[in-house]
Amino acid sequence: MDEPLLSIRDLCVDYVSEAGCVRAVDHVTLDVSRAEIVGVAGESGSGKSTLAQALLRILPPPAIISGGEARFEGRDILTLSETELRELRWRRISMVFQSAMDSLNPVISIGEQIVDTLVAHGAATRQEARSRAAELLEMVGIPAPRVDAYAHQLSGGMRQRVGIALALALEPALVILDEPTTALDVIVEREILQQIRGLQEKLGFAVLFITHDLARMLQFSDRVAVFYAAQLVELAPAAELRRAPRHPYTEGLLRAFPSVQSDADEPESIPGAPPSLLSPPAACRFHPRCDRVQAICRERQPDLIQLGPRRAAACHLAE
Ligand SMILES: Nc1ncnc2c1ncn2[C@@H]1O[C@H](COP(=O)(O)OP(=O)(O)OP(=O)(O)O)[C@@H](O)[C@H]1O
Ligand SMILES: [Mg+2]
Repeated sequence: MDEPLLSIRDLCVDYVSEAGCVRAVDHVTLDVSRAEIVGVAGESGSGKSTLAQALLRILPPPAIISGGEARFEGRDILTLSETELRELRWRRISMVFQSAMDSLNPVISIGEQIVDTLVAHGAATRQEARSRAAELLEMVGIPAPRVDAYAHQLSGGMRQRVGIALALALEPALVILDEPTTALDVIVEREILQQIRGLQEKLGFAVLFITHDLARMLQFSDRVAVFYAAQLVELAPAAELRRAPRHPYTEGLLRAFPSVQSDADEPESIPGAPPSLLSPPAACRFHPRCDRVQAICRERQPDLIQLGPRRAAACHLAE
């Protein structure tokens, strides 16, 4: 009964090209419970979107899933057939992308698109789907008269709301949000996130929420997973992560978002840059940027150690 909704074990994803092999998701292990909001934080290029795409098996070439497991509702997503995947996508796991424009059809009204989705998945007759589409759009804050609008007639914020309505249309158990509000101004962003939170509480779906914005993520998530250079380096309930981070990289991220802390002043960026995944640093990948580096950090890769029932960190100092 207490089995997690999603259970990722040792997941590895590689981009293989002539330049070499880039492991963009490196032995990631992570559980998501039913109705839980898990935030995925990390600098650009740390593998967040690759992880999300692997879970829906929509990775673009030349990416391949090279190892691990991702059990969802009792089945390993990584071994499903194309037919089983079609059943899974949108119906059980859906996704909202950074720009909903990319997933909206420009020549069909937004209402019709939702109707098509519902009908294509056998969730409703056309007749039923019409009223359900209006309901869904209203639920995400789009007034009924706009059902006949086309994507290009809507603001960026409205388009993201349509993307959310589409993602929720088939009542999935997991919704993946990959930077859903990055292109929007902060007020619209806050409104949309509050709305998703409200819907999540009402409908009970789980969320994997990807964003660069750690402050936003801490407000929005139950638990946060911090990624560095393709690896999971810290996992903790949002409040604990904010109060007492156990990985120096997480500390650095918190200092880079001073709005997270009440007594904060100027943002302080982490010195250096994330490594190239073509040739990541040996042992602890963060050691070249870490202000508390020890000899062992250059010698041995730290394991992800369980620090409590829902906390883990991959740092020699946390051991
Ligand atoms: N098409 C590609 N070909 C080769 N390597 C790629 C490709 N796309 C991504 N990568 C590699 O995978 C790594 C992870 O990329 P990914 O897009 O998952 O990162 P991200 O954390 O989502 O970044 P961002 O915050 O910028 O969206 C990159 O650092 C890059 O090395
Ligand atoms: Mg991304």
